[in-house]
Amino acid sequence: MPKPIKKAIFPVGGLGTRFLPATKSMPKEMLTVVDKPLIHYAFDQARAAGIEEFIFVTGRNKSAIEDYFDCAYELEETLKARDKKELLARATEWVPPAGSIVYTRQMEPLGLGHAVWCARHIIGDEPFAVLLADELFLSERPLLQEMAEIYAEKGGNVLGVADVAREHTSNYGIIDPESDNGKIIKIKGMVEKPHPSKAPSNISITGQYILQPEIFGHLDEAVKRGHGKAEIQLTNAIAAMLKTIPTHGVRFTGRRYDCGSRSGFLQANIAFALEVPEMRADALAMMRRFLSDNDDEAM
Ligand code: G1P
Repeated sequence: MPKPIKKAIFPVGGLGTRFLPATKSMPKEMLTVVDKPLIHYAFDQARAAGIEEFIFVTGRNKSAIEDYFDCAYELEETLKARDKKELLARATEWVPPAGSIVYTRQMEPLGLGHAVWCARHIIGDEPFAVLLADELFLSERPLLQEMAEIYAEKGGNVLGVADVAREHTSNYGIIDPESDNGKIIKIKGMVEKPHPSKAPSNISITGQYILQPEIFGHLDEAVKRGHGKAEIQLTNAIAAMLKTIPTHGVRFTGRRYDCGSRSGFLQANIAFALEVPEMRADALAMMRRFLSDNDDEAM
């Protein structure tokens, strides 16, 4: 039985330049989809998969994330004094107990592999999860929860993967499958952001990972080779482990929204609003109005 995963890394050091000017003074992970910041959705996924320790690899100007996962004394006292129980619960009931969140800074923008490497001493010698907050997933069960179950069976590394249109392979890490039963894919190769003509498949890495601590040895080497200049890809470090650590993909078949782009972010807001029962009718009516007001372009 593989060692259970209790720790997760959230790389949140990115500048979010695609959302300027908003991200000038606000972390991109705090952008809101309906009523929750993006980072909260990633945090929920981790919790659902049994994670108990949350490691944020942050950067400058990211203190709003720390405040978000802390007590908000004035707000809580005011809501208590006004007997606003429901609002109080919405603001506080998901906040993890003191001591379960650790923050460290990436210090240099050297890529995802480098961000994960920055958490090496906090992780130590145990398997862990990595969750990127850029993408949102809508499905019956959280993807990381399914991945944790398959990990309990297979061990090794387990990655969330999803099919994409071939012309989009250059936006993602792409895997080379050895076998594929529809849900679980044994991986024999992977490459970061290949041109469609060079991509080994159209199966992309979604940004959720369960990894063995041996990856830190590979990241150490990449950091040394990069001399603090080259970006360090997580995909390359996982690829370097494929011969020694069995690596499986778990195919996600729900809906996926790339909140790193403005139109993906807008789509996520609409899709998630439609999932809120008390918003659904209004949101649909609003969309019908927009469509009829812009009739000539909408078709
Ligand atoms: C990162 C990873 C890539 C993965 C993607 C998922 O890329 O490097 O392999 O497919 O996340 O969102 P990024 O989008 O940070 O450039």
